[in-house]
Amino acid sequence: MLQIKNLEAGYGKVHVLQGISIEVPKGQVVTLIGSNGAGKTTTMRAVSGMIRPSAGEITLNGKRIDQLESNQIAKLGLAHSPEGRRVFATMTVTDNLLLGAFPRLTGSRPKGDVQADLERAMELFPRLKERRQQLAGTLSGGEQQMLAMARAVMLNPEVVLLDEPSMGLAPILVEEVFRIIARLKQEGVTMLLVEQFAAAALKVADYGYVLENGRISVHGEASKLMNDSAVRAAYLGGSH
Ligand SMILES: Nc1ncnc2c1ncn2[C@@H]1O[C@H](COP(=O)(O)OP(=O)(O)OP(=O)(O)O)[C@@H](O)[C@H]1O
Ligand SMILES: [Mg+2]
Repeated sequence: MLQIKNLEAGYGKVHVLQGISIEVPKGQVVTLIGSNGAGKTTTMRAVSGMIRPSAGEITLNGKRIDQLESNQIAKLGLAHSPEGRRVFATMTVTDNLLLGAFPRLTGSRPKGDVQADLERAMELFPRLKERRQQLAGTLSGGEQQMLAMARAVMLNPEVVLLDEPSMGLAPILVEEVFRIIARLKQEGVTMLLVEQFAAAALKVADYGYVLENGRISVHGEASKLMNDSAVRAAYLGGSH
């Protein structure tokens, strides 16, 4: 379980997050919805240690992580699939995936069966299976996005942060990404999901938070948020 309490964070003098609290219970999918610039990516960065919070507490399974370095946070089981397809371009698909499992290979995370999980990732992302020996930098944008997600899952994480996994993808790939998120959820993977497709995110999620200018304005069960008139008007295009 990931717990964020009164988190404040930003960049130098720019205060972005003004004290937000979010809970991601084990086995659940929680979505964070908000307009461009609301602070969603900043939240993800603060949780994974890419930026240091200025106030508040973040705990992962009861252990404080808000003052740790990113690699220490990863060792505790937090995987971050960042905004904008970050893959290791000059490495193969397989090596990118094995790198996701690095803390397991070095013994700082429970090892489990890395080879079996690699096969499982390939089954989950068939496009990657076909291209396992291809250099990641030569994958299409959509395939790189899939690789970033698959690499996060290879940590065998306690929690996965997914920041806009469908960004820039063609509609058919967007559907595939949401199908994969639903599959991961079925397998019990705990996720904090940021998505521009708020309706689809609320459909797959158990619970949702709305972030406005660095503050949580509304939160509740995903099904309730989907029917909330203010949320619908602002984030779901007012229809369906
Ligand atoms: N490295 C940075 N330095 C300074 N300001 C930044 C930096 N990164 C983001 N910001 C600012 O922080 C605010 C929140 O940005 P953030 O990326 O968290 O938004 P977001 O909710 O993820 O938006 P989007 O939906 O566009 O991805 C914005 O005003 C942005 O300009
Ligand atoms: Mg963002």
